[in-house]
Amino acid sequence: MAEFTLPANSVVRKGQYHKAPSGAQRVKRFVVYRYDPASGENPRTDTYEVDLDSCGPMVLDALIKIKSEQDSTLSLRRSCREGICGSCSMNIDGGNTLACTKAISDIKGDVKIYPLPHQPVVKDLVSDLTNFYAQYASIEPWMKTSTATPPDRERLQSREDREKLDGLYECILCACCSTSCPSYWWNSDRYLGPATLLNAYRWIVDSRDEATGERLDELEDPFKLYRCHTIMNCAKVCPKGLNPAKAIAETKKLLVQRKI
Ligand code: SF4
Ligand code: F3S
Ligand code: FES
Repeated sequence: MAEFTLPANSVVRKGQYHKAPSGAQRVKRFVVYRYDPASGENPRTDTYEVDLDSCGPMVLDALIKIKSEQDSTLSLRRSCREGICGSCSMNIDGGNTLACTKAISDIKGDVKIYPLPHQPVVKDLVSDLTNFYAQYASIEPWMKTSTATPPDRERLQSREDREKLDGLYECILCACCSTSCPSYWWNSDRYLGPATLLNAYRWIVDSRDEATGERLDELEDPFKLYRCHTIMNCAKVCPKGLNPAKAIAETKKLLVQRKI
């Protein structure tokens, strides 16, 4: 699993300790990364004791409880709380995942929570994903056609062609995969990373799309695609069970095939 790695000059010291209310029976400690770049202070970790008897089962439930009852200054992103929106991605217990689908009971000992690795931090658990979204936009993730639209119906697709999109269209752009990829850590300015490449492949294999050649041309680049060195962290961490490494390998195969 991807480990959280701090920028070289950062020091994370222990911060505040928040005790659970007296009488709590089943207490679990959550050690949470805190950093406000605007404050000029170094990052720290604050520890919160949470009474599991009055908390939902997921790590996101605990974070929301902490924010509501113990420390309203804690910042995090979340929306759907059911693994659909992709906004609660963070590094929990050493691996990137969604806080809303990660069960507290799966974690032995203290629950250590950090933002996604190797991204700038906006505040606490909120990463700045501007570059990640710009890379996604760069692949033009929409259907491109040059032929006229049929006048009387949609552009149809056979059942078999539709099945080629399974394992691709489910991506929720949580960035867990890209931010667990060492190649992406070192080259995120030029390497597109597994999430964007999986989505690029999703359009390449869509039988209705008519820009396959252009899409492949765009990816034929020593950095954009070929910085994937098959490290496989991406497939290990994807909370939706997708395999970006396979999509990248298939794209490389198509680039070779079209040369033959
Ligand atoms: Fe998240 Fe998986 Fe999509 Fe990567 S491939 S962005 S880990 S859903
Ligand atoms: Fe990175 Fe996955 Fe390739 S972890 S190097 S994108 S196989
Ligand atoms: Fe939407 Fe977790 S809150 S995926």
